[in-house]
Amino acid sequence: MSTPRVLVTGGGRGIGRAIALRFAREQAKVCVAARTSSELDAVVIEIGKAGGQGRAQQMNVADHSSVEGAVWRAVEFLGGAIDVLVNDAGVFDVKPFAEMDLKVWQRNLEVNLSGPFFVTLEALEPLLDGERRHVFNIASVAARKGFAGNTAYCASKYGLRGFSDALREELRPKGVRVSTVYPGPTDTKLFDGQPGQWDRAKMNKPEDVAEVVWKAYVAPEGANVDDLEVPPPKG
Ligand SMILES: NC(=O)c1ccc[n+]([C@@H]2O[C@H](COP(=O)([O-])OP(=O)(O)OC[C@H]3O[C@@H](n4cnc5c(N)ncnc54)[C@H](OP(=O)(O)O)[C@@H]3O)[C@@H](O)[C@H]2O)c1
Repeated sequence: MSTPRVLVTGGGRGIGRAIALRFAREQAKVCVAARTSSELDAVVIEIGKAGGQGRAQQMNVADHSSVEGAVWRAVEFLGGAIDVLVNDAGVFDVKPFAEMDLKVWQRNLEVNLSGPFFVTLEALEPLLDGERRHVFNIASVAARKGFAGNTAYCASKYGLRGFSDALREELRPKGVRVSTVYPGPTDTKLFDGQPGQWDRAKMNKPEDVAEVVWKAYVAPEGANVDDLEVPPPKG
């Protein structure tokens, strides 16, 4: 297998960072994209230490023009093609529906659903020029089950699941695999400042999700990698 060329949105921390580093261990070229450049720069150093080549790319996935320029620069770094696109960037807001406002609703829909749409749209051509091509859409258990206080988040993730399922059917004949990833609760900053009791000790580690993604990437052609569940550890 040749060196994978990878674009990871949300690669500055949490699950996206862990996926970037997992590919870096295989000498991949990895472009990490998000809004906070200090976090991206730190991950690029870690990518280098892990054996890969990294590049930080600022991008607001909710803003189409930001995505357009950022994907172009990412492709330039990756050498003209993308083998692996990871749509990971996401936000999470816990709010009872009675307190819901348009701002929270739009933030979840724009980042978690329009974000993957914009990024995939811009990345499609370079992806079709890639090798061992694969799109990973990081959804959630909240893409299959409703949770109280999560109307906006669930709506965005159910939407992402539909986007991913339909995209798979379109890209299959072109030789691009599309996996929807359904992590259970995972110990990241996503929960910081959110109301509720979050028992971090009982959660997945971001590296658990990254390992599932990597195994799916290297799975033989006939293997079913459509839906990747990453439930929390037992106990
Ligand atoms: N943690 C969990 O329990 C869990 C479970 C299921 C699914 N997920 C999903 O996994 C993904 C990653 O979450 P995480 O837990 O790793 O959270 P995290 O640690 O908060 O990381 C989120 C990443 O997304 C980026 N991001 C947020 N808004 C963005 C925007 N508008 N444009 C570009 N990048 C943006 C953040 O960077 P900036 O803020 O710097 O932009 C950060 O790099 C999300 O899609 C989340 O819904 C998480």
